[in-house]
Amino acid sequence: MTNQDWLVTNESQCIPLTVVSQDLQEDSCTQPYRLYRFLTDVEDILWQKTDDRLRLAKICPLVRRLLNSSEWILTSFGLPDRETGWSVQMLYDEPDFALTVQTVAWSPQSISPIHNHATWGIVAIIRPLAELNL
Ligand SMILES: [Fe+2]
Repeated sequence: MTNQDWLVTNESQCIPLTVVSQDLQEDSCTQPYRLYRFLTDVEDILWQKTDDRLRLAKICPLVRRLLNSSEWILTSFGLPDRETGWSVQMLYDEPDFALTVQTVAWSPQSISPIHNHATWGIVAIIRPLAELNL
């Protein structure tokens, strides 16, 4: 996994993102970093920080930690639809709570036109589907 995180601006500029490491508890290396802890940590950051760039700098390491710790997420995806070339698996979505966590699987060679979700988000590219030998 490449360790560089990138910030893509509204102007489509890609800027290397300097992340802010979290102080980890002593047992954090031996205990799984579970999805519910990730969500709580992200919510804490959203309450504490108002600057979106700083929020992303603090949340990106948590995403990396979650993916490294929760192997089940790496296999929690649906096979891409034959027509659209992609699938979405919702891992977390709660009414009246702004965070969602999804895994999206794309078929090789599938493309998505440039579009805007009108909010920030974090995309972690896990692995090309072709490498999974499905
Ligand atoms: Fe999108």
